[in-house]
Amino acid sequence: MTHRLALCIAMAFTLTACSAPPEPPGQPASPAAAPAVQKSAFGTTKEGEAVEIYTLTNRNGMTAKVMTYGATLTELLVPDRTGTPGNVVLGFDSVEPYLAGVPYFGSTIGRVGNRIAKGTFTLNGRTYKLAANNGPNHLHGGLKGFDKVVWKAEVVSSSGGQAVRFTYRSPDGEEGYPGNLDAAVVYTLTDANELRLDYVATTDKATPVNLTNHSYFNLAGEGVGTILDHVMMIAADEMTPVDDSLIPTGKLAPVKGTVFDFTTPTAIGARIAKVPIAPPVGYDHNYVLRKADGDLTLAARVTEPTSGRVMEVRTSEPGIQFYSGNFLDGTIKNRKGVPYGKHAAFCLETQHHPDSVNHANFPSTILEPGQTYKTTTVYAFAAK
Ligand code: GLA
Repeated sequence: MTHRLALCIAMAFTLTACSAPPEPPGQPASPAAAPAVQKSAFGTTKEGEAVEIYTLTNRNGMTAKVMTYGATLTELLVPDRTGTPGNVVLGFDSVEPYLAGVPYFGSTIGRVGNRIAKGTFTLNGRTYKLAANNGPNHLHGGLKGFDKVVWKAEVVSSSGGQAVRFTYRSPDGEEGYPGNLDAAVVYTLTDANELRLDYVATTDKATPVNLTNHSYFNLAGEGVGTILDHVMMIAADEMTPVDDSLIPTGKLAPVKGTVFDFTTPTAIGARIAKVPIAPPVGYDHNYVLRKADGDLTLAARVTEPTSGRVMEVRTSEPGIQFYSGNFLDGTIKNRKGVPYGKHAAFCLETQHHPDSVNHANFPSTILEPGQTYKTTTVYAFAAK
């Protein structure tokens, strides 16, 4: 039996037909062929909804797994400098740990990512009241945000690589937000070792929208130490200072000469103890990217010295939240029982600035009927 035939039988759920002719006997299998997108069962929600997981692969040894619960990235295999793939995101092999409660590991965040002060805003003369699920504030879409719903999914053809499109209709009034919002995110894994996320949304009433992905990265491999020795560059000369509850004051502050300055590559741990924030101390701040809103350019570059892995983040968004995993406290353990402790991973959440809906001087997050919300973020990998 040829390797390809074995693969076709093994991949009972394979969505692209295994139609290529078998390799002639004695010929090595073509190294170029990446297997098709695979779909498998991943468990069931407490409400009895089936959850599925899609596995995308590329020609260079990268694999991305994305489940329909929360349109969540659960695993991302990236080769290190020796070519050995390792999983660089925190995540699990079934939906159960996610249902038990994890802080947004890999999830798609919406309807509005990050915080809204006191969970309230006024739009077109009407005041809306949202859940206060983070101290006095609203965080990441509320009690049941887009990270906690089951999305529909379909494999889509893309010239860029293997792609899956996730869609979700957020009904009018859900979590207190106005309007039916049709949201979509396409995950594409390219042969240039990029995981590309394209977000689209439309609405039938004016509403704030701010979609992002909340992956926790550790480029040494998830469960391997902390991220304090990772070297970070953020292409931002300014950040949005916050009050004690992490709500922006509305000012933009220069980072030069402060612990927030990552304009030149600096170890995450170099100044972390001096970050002015309520404990647990660490970074949890929004940077104002040095680029035009809508322009898909470099936002951050992170290098991990032992594995040699490098991740670049490119985005069309005006901001990025750098969160250094301050609230991870070891309670959650990985697949092998290794606790995810403080600074076990970092997040780079591309976004509009927090609480934009209450700050007229920030780029607007309001989507009007007839408009189409479109943003793109690319996580690109290399090893050196
Ligand atoms: C975001 C927030 C953090 C924290 C994490 C999840 O990054 O900015 O304060 O809530 O999500 O724990």
